[in-house]
Amino acid sequence: MASVALCLMLCVLSVRPRSGANQAFSLRSHEWLGWLALAAALLHVGCLIATDPVVIEHLKPTAPRYELAGMLALGALAFLVLAGHAPIRQRLWLRHRNFQAAHVGAACLLVWTTAAHVVTTDRYVHGASQRAAYLLLSAVALLALLRPRSSHAQVRQTRPVLASLVFGRHSAIVLAIVLGSLGALLPLDPSGAIVALREPFLRRDERLVVDFPHDLHRAINCIQCHHNYTDGTGGDSCVACHRSRRTDLRVGVEARFHTFCLGCHRDPPGGLSGHGPVTGCRSCHAPLAAGRE
Ligand code: HEC
Ligand code: HEC
Ligand code: HEC
Ligand code: HEC
Repeated sequence: MASVALCLMLCVLSVRPRSGANQAFSLRSHEWLGWLALAAALLHVGCLIATDPVVIEHLKPTAPRYELAGMLALGALAFLVLAGHAPIRQRLWLRHRNFQAAHVGAACLLVWTTAAHVVTTDRYVHGASQRAAYLLLSAVALLALLRPRSSHAQVRQTRPVLASLVFGRHSAIVLAIVLGSLGALLPLDPSGAIVALREPFLRRDERLVVDFPHDLHRAINCIQCHHNYTDGTGGDSCVACHRSRRTDLRVGVEARFHTFCLGCHRDPPGGLSGHGPVTGCRSCHAPLAAGRE
């Protein structure tokens, strides 16, 4: 469990070198930090799968959106690092300006997808204020991508913002991409976005086994979970109902239950104790093939 937490933290931390690479850095340390970030992200994925096989469920096409965003982030990071590697870069792009534009575009994608991933996992960035702070940090990182032209390079002129950027004839496109990504960060803020990002694009066919320890929840009023006993929605088991095609369900089963179960475990109402945030999938989902001993 500790390694899972550590890997995740590493991945979050590694956002900094990726996005905030400022001019004070030499090109070499910039590249070096990129490789480090890629290694940390790969370690994060590798360790998670190794310690908790249920995680594989989130690598399938039925994975929720924030996990897909995480995969996209990894892809963007790999692109940034590999295609930025000098021999490959020179082969792919004849003009440096084209490389620059592609590199900054991928960096924008990386910052946004990482934000979607981190904010939705709700683990290290938790609660409204932390979320806002993290998104602000991402916004700063995005804005930092807009490198100004160094002052001695050109004769000073009174020209619009575009001319002051370093991207030459791509300046308008780069500016649009950065501002677009900046705007796209905003919808990530309301907590409802977390539920939406936990929805998959593709519905799963089979259930994933859940090993729910009823005994441990004695302290909680039945009705808090079995809302159907009072509001007249029926008398089925949770999943029979929440996995059905009822049209009044606003959210899919996974998004609904992960938000519900994990929500109480993380922010328990007063008077409840004995639980921390449940981390590994396996604490709730019995190991895939074999049952829990
Ligand atoms: C923390 C939430 C929670 C609390 C509190 C809770 N339950 Fe449950 N209960 C569940 C879940 C989850 C299931 C699993 C049902 C499923 O798989 O669909 C379940 C299953 C059941 C079932 C079997 C239903 C079926 O058709 O499979 C019964 C009966 C039941 N609970 C009664 C109670 C009673 C009585 C209380 C209060 C003493 C209570 N529960 C408290 C969450 C809760
Ligand atoms: C007979 C159908 C049915 C059963 C059984 C059922 N639900 Fe629901 N549940 C609904 C409907 C319908 C809604 C409202 C639509 C929505 O939020 O998607 C809902 C909403 C919810 C919500 C969101 C409430 C809110 O205010 O946003 C939670 C959480 C939830 N159910 C948990 C459970 C749990 C846990 C169980 C089992 C212990 C359960 N449900 C059993 C039909 C059911
Ligand atoms: C209202 C708060 C609340 C909700 C909702 C809730 N839990 Fe819990 N859960 C607890 C508490 C409190 C404990 C610790 C009980 C103890 O150990 O004394 C616990 C313990 C557990 C444990 C054991 C954890 C461990 O480390 O041993 C599991 C697994 C679990 N819950 C799963 C679930 C699942 C699955 C759901 C959703 C269906 C759920 N819980 C919903 C409060 C909640
Ligand atoms: C706090 C308990 C808890 C934890 C931790 C948890 N889940 Fe779940 N998960 C649930 C519950 C409850 C459901 C919905 C009920 C069901 O499917 O029986 C669910 C549903 C799902 C579903 C959808 C299953 C379906 O029937 O469509 C997937 C996929 C899933 N979880 C994957 C994961 C993965 C991967 C992890 C670890 C990263 C994880 N879960 C961690 C409780 C948990």
